[in-house]
Amino acid sequence: MGDQADKLRVQMQTGRPELVPGQPRVLATASGKGGVGKTNFCVNFALGLQRRGFQPVVIDADLGFADVEVLLGVRPRRTIVDVIEGTEIWDALEFSEHGLPFLSAGSGLLDLHDLTPWQMDRLLEQVSQLHERFDVVLLDCGAGMGANFGRMLAAVDDLVVVTTPEPTAIADAYALLKMLVVRGCLPETRLVINRVRNLAEGRETAEKLRLVADRFLDAKVDVLGFVLEDHTVARAVMEQRALLQAYPHSPAARCFDQLVHNYLRVETVQPSRGLGGFFERLLRRVRPAPREEAADSSGHTA
Ligand SMILES: Nc1ncnc2c1ncn2[C@@H]1O[C@H](COP(=O)(O)OP(=O)(O)OP(=O)(O)O)[C@@H](O)[C@H]1O
Ligand SMILES: [Mg+2]
Repeated sequence: MGDQADKLRVQMQTGRPELVPGQPRVLATASGKGGVGKTNFCVNFALGLQRRGFQPVVIDADLGFADVEVLLGVRPRRTIVDVIEGTEIWDALEFSEHGLPFLSAGSGLLDLHDLTPWQMDRLLEQVSQLHERFDVVLLDCGAGMGANFGRMLAAVDDLVVVTTPEPTAIADAYALLKMLVVRGCLPETRLVINRVRNLAEGRETAEKLRLVADRFLDAKVDVLGFVLEDHTVARAVMEQRALLQAYPHSPAARCFDQLVHNYLRVETVQPSRGLGGFFERLLRRVRPAPREEAADSSGHTA
């Protein structure tokens, strides 16, 4: 356990995660503007992974705004605050009705940005233990960016930036990317364009953002995919049931399934090897490639 904590501390200092065999992929979601669909993405993406035989876990890292449990209709007994205060993470995990494990953020108790370095260390050390049982850890981060957010991102493998096609959401997503580039903590980043009217709108929005990030920030961001505007999303939220469980054949649910498919395809070096390649790649990424190490020494991870 101390060993894991040491590794995370090294990650914090170097700004680059050191992946170890058997460690799950850690994927964080974030946005510039609030209310664009991060929590729905996390929960439904995790369920999509679970359907394909993976073992995901959702960490509600939007401290003080515990939306994951509301979406899943669960009243948790323990929260992330208990973990920070000494409870083992295994004793604080909750399960949705259909068996999706998650850790609650707790309501109105703490803000991620207010955590002391010691509290942040404790949280990350506990999260790092999840590799023993899970293969994808999804962190639902809040909107915007505070000091600890950058530290958290230094420990993740992938960042998914969620936006809608609205100009304000795109502008805020760009501002978020810019802050991460300036602070030298932009991990491998993918865009999810939520609430699109059609595929063309999704493509156009994603391309716009991808191009400005490339041109003005020299940041290479990929596009993970799109989610259609769909009234069943709000209906599922009202019913406090995850969309993939409540309305698995809805247009938005199919989009989430496609996002999972896209994610696994990218993570599979040789598509013909199927999902097995995903794990092989996880195991191979023990050390950063020499070129990445060189880039890391400049403090720029994009
Ligand atoms: N694809 C969609 N189609 C229609 N409505 C949607 C879609 N995605 C999200 N919504 C609506 O947007 C609301 C906010 O979604 P969600 O809670 O996932 O956003 P968030 O980014 O996590 O918000 P916050 O920044 O407050 O944490 C949902 O409750 C739902 O009503
Ligand atoms: Mg949310």
